[in-house]
Amino acid sequence: MESLGLTIGKKKIRIPIIQGGMGIGVSRSGLAGAVAKNGGVGVIASVALGLISPYFKKKSDYYEANKLALRDEVRKAREIAGYGVIGVNCMVAIADYEDMVRVSVENGADMIISGAGLPTSLPALTKGYPDVALVPIVSSVKAAQVIIKKWERSHSRIPDAIIYEHPKYAGGHLGASHDELEHPKYDYPAVIPGLVEAVRPFGNIPIIAAGGIWDAEDIREVMALGASGVQMASRFVCTYECDADIKFKEIYISAGDEDLAIVHSPVGLPGRAINTAFMKSGKKAKGKGCMANCLKVCAKRDMGEDFCIALALKNAVTGDIKNGLFFAGTNAPKSSKLVSVAELMEELSEGFAPIT
Ligand SMILES: Cc1cc2nc3c(=O)[nH]c(=O)nc-3n(C[C@H](O)[C@H](O)[C@H](O)COP(=O)(O)O)c2cc1C
Repeated sequence: MESLGLTIGKKKIRIPIIQGGMGIGVSRSGLAGAVAKNGGVGVIASVALGLISPYFKKKSDYYEANKLALRDEVRKAREIAGYGVIGVNCMVAIADYEDMVRVSVENGADMIISGAGLPTSLPALTKGYPDVALVPIVSSVKAAQVIIKKWERSHSRIPDAIIYEHPKYAGGHLGASHDELEHPKYDYPAVIPGLVEAVRPFGNIPIIAAGGIWDAEDIREVMALGASGVQMASRFVCTYECDADIKFKEIYISAGDEDLAIVHSPVGLPGRAINTAFMKSGKKAKGKGCMANCLKVCAKRDMGEDFCIALALKNAVTGDIKNGLFFAGTNAPKSSKLVSVAELMEELSEGFAPIT
């Protein structure tokens, strides 16, 4: 029996599955705590958590509310997870990225996972916390090399793992242009072995595959290419513990493959989502002004284009089917019922012998 288990920095992970961060608020302490408790890495998405917290009453509360809400979520996840590994997903593109990283480490996060831009400042931001694992998300070998060289030169540090996210399958914002999402250069056999080779001279940096991983067979396939583990997000939405409203989960369950679509997000990246009323109606969240100044660069706030991504994602997580933007990977339509995280982790580790 093939052995499971993954070491990222100083953290030993029994089952080599990172539950992908899902914003806004889809992966909070409930889901992250349960995944960590059951042997994987549970990840809280830090983006705009304040918006769905009692700390947010008006626009000027936004940044403070985000900090307080993230603090609460990290602490709650820890209570659920015990010694399990808790990560926080912090996107470089968000306006309060630095604060989100700091609040995470100050409150006991074990790992910071960072994409949507190059996380070149991450080692500096976490300087006083050498035990916290730092994990960039990339969409090319080149991006991985740039990050490693920059971290080595400026901070004498290398990433503790690198996540490669495949734009053809992943949910949420995608790291490739709309025209190139399906380009074969992004396929796992084309990228994973190359990444493994590229990082080898720098030390032991596990490569994690994200996007389109659904079952134990998929995990085995990417591991055969050299990946040390996987990041999975869509598969965790239809769990009892997932923190989104039940209507969010029902949309996944009722979706068919034909219901997936690509949206042009004000972040400046394409995003994969379920083709709901919001997508079809020309994104009505347009009408409202900027509700939170959540992004460093925003086509809606700065140029009046697209729609308010914060409002659309907040609507989705709170179950507003008409006005929500429901991010989803290509696997989302495979969801057929709700399961517990414990059952799911057991199923996913089938055929492997988890290290204890
Ligand atoms: C609902 C949803 C929200 C997401 N939000 C984020 C996010 O806030 N930050 C991020 O880095 N990735 C985000 N992602 C991407 C996932 O973390 C993950 O890498 C990707 O979806 C993996 O593909 P899979 O869904 O096929 O497993 C999101 C994905 C989904 C489905």
